[in-house]
Amino acid sequence: MTATRTRLRRTAPSSPLGDLARTARIIVCCGSGGVGKTSTAAAVALWAAEAGRRTCVLTIDPARRLAQALGLDLLANSPHPVRLDGLGNGPGSLDAMMLDMRRTFDEVIERYARDPDQADRILANRFYQRLSSTLAGTQEYMAMEKLYELHESQRYDLLVVDTPPTRSALDFLDAPDNLNELLDARAFRLLIAPAQRIGRGYLRGLNLATTAMTKMVRRVTGSELLAEVGEFFAAFEGMYDGFKERAGLVYDQLKHPSTAFVVVATPEGPALREAAYLAGRLAADRMPLGALVVNRIHRAGSVPRVPAAARAKLAAAGADGRLLADLLELHDSLETLAAAEQRRVRDLLETVPNLGVVQVPLLPDDVHDVAGLRRLGGHLFA
Ligand SMILES: Nc1ncnc2c1ncn2[C@@H]1O[C@H](COP(=O)(O)OP(=O)(O)OP(=O)(O)O)[C@@H](O)[C@H]1O
Ligand SMILES: [Mg+2]
Repeated sequence: MTATRTRLRRTAPSSPLGDLARTARIIVCCGSGGVGKTSTAAAVALWAAEAGRRTCVLTIDPARRLAQALGLDLLANSPHPVRLDGLGNGPGSLDAMMLDMRRTFDEVIERYARDPDQADRILANRFYQRLSSTLAGTQEYMAMEKLYELHESQRYDLLVVDTPPTRSALDFLDAPDNLNELLDARAFRLLIAPAQRIGRGYLRGLNLATTAMTKMVRRVTGSELLAEVGEFFAAFEGMYDGFKERAGLVYDQLKHPSTAFVVVATPEGPALREAAYLAGRLAADRMPLGALVVNRIHRAGSVPRVPAAARAKLAAAGADGRLLADLLELHDSLETLAAAEQRRVRDLLETVPNLGVVQVPLLPDDVHDVAGLRRLGGHLFA
């Protein structure tokens, strides 16, 4: 416990994020839903740009006001410059984009198809259309495809990647494997060949619960699309290996020491448990864990102790006294909450030794504009 306290104090004066934002090539902000991934990604990118790096932030479903503040345009599906005072005079720059998973999928098909005819056949296929716009995991996969494309372009010193609002933060890491399994036409052919010979009843009769692909075929298609499934895999012929190869290259890049995962959590039990789980998984996959951000921490300033008898006197001494007594009580609750949060953070750190931690207070307002990002950045890089 004492050792952990020392560690917490030691990391406080210089934020571990400063080094990462100055040196990493890719920073991935991950964590469970609603904890502050998008805000953190945007604030880190802004800080790095202002520190002189050519930076791009790839956001996923940002809140509308933040998207407007960054001038994000869903229709573009490619990075564009964020115009800010002071940026552009030095070497640093900030580009931002908002991922459109369907557009990204279409672009991947267009880019890697053998010829325009193959691309057209896939894009017009109804099974593909459902797959690319509704399937869980597609967003995560397309974030990886976009990351690959941006990294290959070598236009940026630093890419900051936001991750989708999934229930489980691990989905981001598992998505490529799941989608690859799904797109593996060999598995599909094994499954579908006898079904085509003897009709749909065969498909229903099979025990199909084993692979992601077969589960999805069941869920997405309904029997009216079954013919389109076959046509899709026929049209997709030859593209699977490319998907698999790029996913492998992105994995390699994610494991590279120039990448840093920043796990974001809030000080509530479930978010911290998810963070610990995610940290363990990153370590098991040999992915570099850069820092833990505990966001929306409650803080209570120090207030002189007022004994109960004195409080009772205050409460009985007119409106001002009552207000003061109420404020003291509120402060007590805040102190209890803040202490419980610190206990939970310390407990988590026991399980993830040597992890740099940044604690960010709950700000009085949402992070929805550039001033908010700078305020958040002030805490992230304090
Ligand atoms: N330190 C903070 N203080 C106050 N509000 C914050 C803070 N950090 C983030 N917020 C707000 O919390 C909300 C959630 O933040 P954000 O959208 O960044 O989370 P997320 O993890 O990306 O969510 P999702 O999983 O839905 O994508 C937003 O309204 C944001 O403005
Ligand atoms: Mg988000």
